[in-house]
Amino acid sequence: MNSNLKLNRIFSLDITACISIMVGIALVLFSPSSAIGSNQGQKHVDSLDELIKMFDSSSCKECHEKIYEQWEKSHHARSLMGLNDQIFLSGYLKHGPLAVHPGQKATKKNFPCFKCHFPQIKHASDSVAAEIADAIMRGDKAKIRKLNIGCLVCHNEKAVVHGLPEAGVLYGNKEVADHSGRPVKKSPLLKNSLICGQCHGLGPNLEFETPIQCATLYGSYLHAYIPSGGTQTCQECHMKDGDHYMPPNFNNREELSERMRQALPMEVRTLAYSFQPKEGDIRPMVVVNTKITNKAGHRIPDG
Ligand code: HEC
Ligand code: HEC
Ligand code: HEC
Ligand code: HEC
Ligand code: HEC
Repeated sequence: MNSNLKLNRIFSLDITACISIMVGIALVLFSPSSAIGSNQGQKHVDSLDELIKMFDSSSCKECHEKIYEQWEKSHHARSLMGLNDQIFLSGYLKHGPLAVHPGQKATKKNFPCFKCHFPQIKHASDSVAAEIADAIMRGDKAKIRKLNIGCLVCHNEKAVVHGLPEAGVLYGNKEVADHSGRPVKKSPLLKNSLICGQCHGLGPNLEFETPIQCATLYGSYLHAYIPSGGTQTCQECHMKDGDHYMPPNFNNREELSERMRQALPMEVRTLAYSFQPKEGDIRPMVVVNTKITNKAGHRIPDG
């Protein structure tokens, strides 16, 4: 006899704020150098141009044209640019616990975000961090657009978890000894969700003097999707046929809305009726049943 409003939540659909959250407590745990500051026995560079050159992807384009073009349109190719081509770090460097003035005073400690957005910083000195901060403060988009998660970040830097990646080597699904420029070695990680999980986040990053939280999706994959019987890897859903575009692309609104409609199908059933508790008192009533199913391998949105 009551008005019924039933909301069935199927599977774990956590709607969480998709904003990077700065955890404002200064918890001093480890030195940030343990995460992004160490040199790992590779060449250490003192200029930003040298670092960009060291991780340049353009030489791969000649032979891997299709993959290059897919990658070029992906978020990985613009990992320090936010929505609508904005340099998202400028706000963080101007206000709040990571602020620095002038930019030239910045060190790698001002950039805990680089752990995932620009991990190759670990091969550079503090003066490179200062150059980047200066470019951000000046709004130099041409320069910041050159900083990305390129071919070598995934196919060298992030492609092994036991030990360190060998310098001058690429890692792939198979051995290609006579590969142009650098030999390709086989790494099982390329087929494993963990290669993505290294950056796609487990929760707060407590190793920094100013702990931060951004992506947490890998945690949701491990703790919600897999225990509920999920069997697919990130690559199986996001890199079908080796596609390096890796959608969703938040800058393509139309494509994004369509993908979200497919990913989060919503069934709505309604029943309208009137309820008459006493003579002359007619109340319109409605029963609404909604069922949202999450087809992704993790919560959406992330953050
Ligand atoms: C002169 C041409 C050429 C250039 C330049 C080149 N590659 Fe390749 N690459 C190949 C060929 C050919 C193969 C073998 C393809 C096959 O056998 O399926 C290959 C294989 C690979 C593989 C292994 C593929 C697999 O199945 O796992 C990876 C990874 C790779 N290349 C990455 C790169 C990257 C990154 C660059 C730039 C630093 C690059 N390549 C530059 C020609 C090239
Ligand atoms: C644990 C790794 C990690 C850290 C640390 C991290 N991020 Fe992220 N961030 C990601 C990943 C992965 C994405 C994209 C996927 C997502 O949002 O789930 C992302 C997305 C973003 C986006 C959205 C980008 C866009 O195109 O709209 C912004 C803005 C952002 N991060 C800012 C920051 C800032 C600022 C910091 C440092 C205070 C930071 N992140 C630290 C991994 C990280
Ligand atoms: C975000 C990480 C990431 C980036 C960036 C990336 N790759 Fe890959 N790449 C992968 C993974 C993971 C695989 C294996 C996918 C699979 O087998 O399911 C792969 C596979 C490949 C393959 C084998 C494809 C096939 O069909 O067998 C080639 C070749 C390759 N990548 C080249 C490149 C080149 C060239 C670039 C830069 C333009 C690049 N990758 C950038 C993660 C990345
Ligand atoms: C080196 C760290 C790193 C690795 C490794 C990595 N990603 Fe990302 N990924 C990011 C960051 C950072 C962004 C957001 C960049 C931006 O928009 O500013 C991102 C964006 C994305 C996006 C676009 C959606 C979004 O929220 O921006 C998808 C999808 C994605 N990554 C999937 C993958 C998959 C699948 C793998 C493994 C094959 C992978 N990533 C490996 C750091 C990484
Ligand atoms: C069962 C398939 C599936 C698996 C497994 C999966 N994803 Fe997704 N993912 C999706 C779907 C569907 C979406 C919704 C958007 C779309 O379709 O483009 C999505 C969205 C995302 C987004 C955007 C999140 C946002 O804030 O909206 C990122 C980033 C991402 N996935 C990365 C990953 C990574 C990294 C892994 C592995 C740890 C992974 N996904 C595993 C299907 C999957």
